[in-house]
Amino acid sequence: MTTIKDRLIGRLESKDAVIGIVGLGYVGLPLMLRYNEIGYRVLGIDIDSGKVEKLNAGRSYIEHISSERIAQARDTGFEATADFSRVAEADAVILCVPTPLNKYREPDISFVINTVDALKAHLREGQVISLESTTYPGTTEEELLPRVEEGELEVGESLFLVYSPEREDPGNPDFETRTIPKVVGGHTPACREVGVALYRPAIDQVVPLSSTRAAEMTKLLENIHRAVNIGLVNEMKIVADRMGIDIFEVVDAAATKPFGFTPYYPGPGLGGHCIPIDPFYLTWKAREYGLHTRFIELSGEINQAMPDYVVNKLIEGLNQRGKALKGSRVLVLGIAYKKNVDDMRESPSVFIMERIRDRGAEVAYSDPHVPSFPPMREHHFDLESVPLSPAALAEYDAVILATDHDRFDYDMIRAHARLIVDTRGIYRGESDERVIKA
Ligand SMILES: NC(=O)c1ccc[n+]([C@@H]2O[C@H](COP(=O)([O-])OP(=O)(O)OC[C@H]3O[C@@H](n4cnc5c(N)ncnc54)[C@H](O)[C@@H]3O)[C@@H](O)[C@H]2O)c1
Repeated sequence: MTTIKDRLIGRLESKDAVIGIVGLGYVGLPLMLRYNEIGYRVLGIDIDSGKVEKLNAGRSYIEHISSERIAQARDTGFEATADFSRVAEADAVILCVPTPLNKYREPDISFVINTVDALKAHLREGQVISLESTTYPGTTEEELLPRVEEGELEVGESLFLVYSPEREDPGNPDFETRTIPKVVGGHTPACREVGVALYRPAIDQVVPLSSTRAAEMTKLLENIHRAVNIGLVNEMKIVADRMGIDIFEVVDAAATKPFGFTPYYPGPGLGGHCIPIDPFYLTWKAREYGLHTRFIELSGEINQAMPDYVVNKLIEGLNQRGKALKGSRVLVLGIAYKKNVDDMRESPSVFIMERIRDRGAEVAYSDPHVPSFPPMREHHFDLESVPLSPAALAEYDAVILATDHDRFDYDMIRAHARLIVDTRGIYRGESDERVIKA
């Protein structure tokens, strides 16, 4: 007798299944493109009707995803909607909504909960729900499971529930959705089997795990590993600087060891939607078990202090030239949180700009990926990107190299800036008294 599970797996394997993607952002859009490219019909659902309209008109709103690709997907079965009742058309429902921290730095899973609350009345037999948003261990079981089972549906029998963390690395040319292995944990063995059938056609390597909790924890381990190691190397940077040693030379040298060492580079602080945020999801959950996550707290403290470290270096450099920061003109180079992208979320450049402005300096920025300072919830600058030229550079008392975009002309910057605070080791190994390593 064919079961509901067998029929769903059959539809996924034959590509008759409709893939529903809820949350068409940095994670949801590339996933949509991947399923579209291999021949599935994809229905995208988002609460932001502006995005829905743009995507349906064949236009992208993310710099590294071209409008041509969206238009091509539109021509081959992709459709976006803000109508949640249409989720019933989908065989797979993949949730890619934000999971930020609230102002007390505690998990805010309201987007996940609101999404499931909006969808649950429209769920039907024979669907698989996959949560991809980063979250603490237990979210799928504690928050999704009771909600999706409110009606007649039984998870593992008529509906299937999995957690499969997204590992998107925007702007990284070496990996794409297909080539990044995908971890999948199911609520039951049948859920896991369906989860594997969902991702196997789209992703080269699927890694099944024993539970949704193990999959949730895996994602957190990956990002905590990064946050802690970046914190470590940022602390090493401060020590090396005091000792007159170039930390970038040291990291590069250590990286020649062919085993047992992974290079992490120091910088002006953590940015993006993941590394500064995700570790604290575990910190919060661990408290429920009476445990403290000391590595996470310590690296958070070190990494959050980096913008101040950079500003202090700027103050020292100006001081050596007989200038105060107050009244100086400072140009910040790169305000996206990492190289070659336009994403500003949690960008340390913004904290640096605020501290400079608060001290009475005039602050400007240049970023080829961010033509004007975007509206942000907690930060406001009424600024346009300054086009870089020898004359423009010479107008500022100092520049801070905060994000190392490939599109910057570093020779021109070195030749014409009066003072450079280099947070990215661009001018490593060069001795120039106008360059301050930070
Ligand atoms: N950006 C990354 O590089 C990355 C990498 C790995 C994991 N993640 C994780 O993936 C998740 C999504 O991140 P993102 O970067 O794609 O976020 P995003 O903000 O780019 O996209 C989220 C989308 O969800 C939509 N949305 C919000 N609430 C909704 C709701 N109730 N119903 C439907 N749509 C809704 C928003 O309008 C937006 O389009 C987060 O948990 C994040 O931690 C992100």
